[in-house]
Amino acid sequence: MSQQKIAAPKGVSEYTPPRSSAFEHVRNCLIAPASKAGYQLIELPVFEDTELFKRGVGESTDVVSKEMYTFEDRGGRSITLRPEGTAGVMRSVIEHGLDRGQLPVKVWYSGQFFRAERPQAGRYRQFYQVGIEAIGLDDPAIDAEVIAIADAGFKALGLKQYRLELTSLGDAQSRAAHKVDLLKFIATLQLDEATAARAAINPLRLFDDKREEMKKAMADAPLLVNYLSDASREHFATVTKYLDALGISYQLNPRMVRGLDYYTGTTFEFVHDLLGAQSGIGGGGRYDGLMEQLGGQSLSGIGFGLGVDRALLAAEAEGVIGQEAFVSDLFIIPLGDGAKLQALTIASELRVKGKRVEVAFGDRALKGAMKGADKSGATYVIVLGESEMSSGTVELKEMKSGASTSVKIDSLFEALNK
Ligand code: HAM
Repeated sequence: MSQQKIAAPKGVSEYTPPRSSAFEHVRNCLIAPASKAGYQLIELPVFEDTELFKRGVGESTDVVSKEMYTFEDRGGRSITLRPEGTAGVMRSVIEHGLDRGQLPVKVWYSGQFFRAERPQAGRYRQFYQVGIEAIGLDDPAIDAEVIAIADAGFKALGLKQYRLELTSLGDAQSRAAHKVDLLKFIATLQLDEATAARAAINPLRLFDDKREEMKKAMADAPLLVNYLSDASREHFATVTKYLDALGISYQLNPRMVRGLDYYTGTTFEFVHDLLGAQSGIGGGGRYDGLMEQLGGQSLSGIGFGLGVDRALLAAEAEGVIGQEAFVSDLFIIPLGDGAKLQALTIASELRVKGKRVEVAFGDRALKGAMKGADKSGATYVIVLGESEMSSGTVELKEMKSGASTSVKIDSLFEALNK
């Protein structure tokens, strides 16, 4: 009886060969500039105590109020699949006392994140991010460096048609001053219950409302940038001065609030022009109160998360990425069981020396195996039968030209290097 097939859960992104090679390339490009700048890997669990995200990301956000994958584990604890990376990094830095050592703490991460959003092109329920966090300094130069690192990743990938949007969400003093006027303004609006509840937790959220009528209603709302304290204004001016000097262009967007509640000060988003509705390929900013909110000391921090899935879509849309099938240097065709064992030995020795080697398995006839070698795109092929094994010599055939040379098995490595 044939069994029914099982499909992947709705809305997850997954990458199979050959496209997975393009995915891998994107991820590597996006993370390389961070490791060159002294950021070190932090590898974290994909599930955490639910409380971490409620407190860290904020209950007024869609991410926490609507999109978390939350479940009870077998011990009755409330667990959530991580919807983002920053809260987990903070939890880990506090737990392991990294904040008591050399500052700033500079870490990078990459992996899967989970949000129960409505799936569409570029928006998935499981998606990939690479990110960095720099914790413990509020020097504006670090803001500029963090932004420059994200920008360098996109550039390394070859992307051109993207822009950087930038604003400052100010310090606590700036936000308190703005909040007074914003709440007065919001009181004049007719809000449905859910929106009013969201505004009560964080009135800035209304700037992020995608509904046309809300965008219209918020058109004349007071903007936070006009309420920046002297310290915040000066900090932000220095960040933009550094970005100018680094030749990184940006557009100021005073309506940007981002989807997570922890942001303060410098806040940014990278937007790609060819991606339609899901155009955000990365974003980040400062989160100066987050560590304290999570029970740690009062340290500032800044970081970003870049969407690997969307960066891949962007690279494909710009035509700057291809798909690479695995191509081996040598394809070995063993004839018979004794030859198989020797083929495996030769292959492992050459792989240790850095060669890419494939062995034809199964007991296909020589003709079929040769076809397989041809299809694999391998540079060279050898056939290993009784006579080759007893003489210790093989015919090394170059697939492209068809030319072959006799080579001692012991000197295959040297021959491949010629
Ligand atoms: P975020 O803006 O929520 O920030 O996510 C960062 C990036 O992840 C987005 O720009 C987007 O490219 C990608 N992304 C988010 N949701 C999805 C989805 N459903 N499907 C596909 N891609 C998605 C954060 O997560 C912050 N933790 C970034 C950060 C680090 N801020 C400070 N440090």
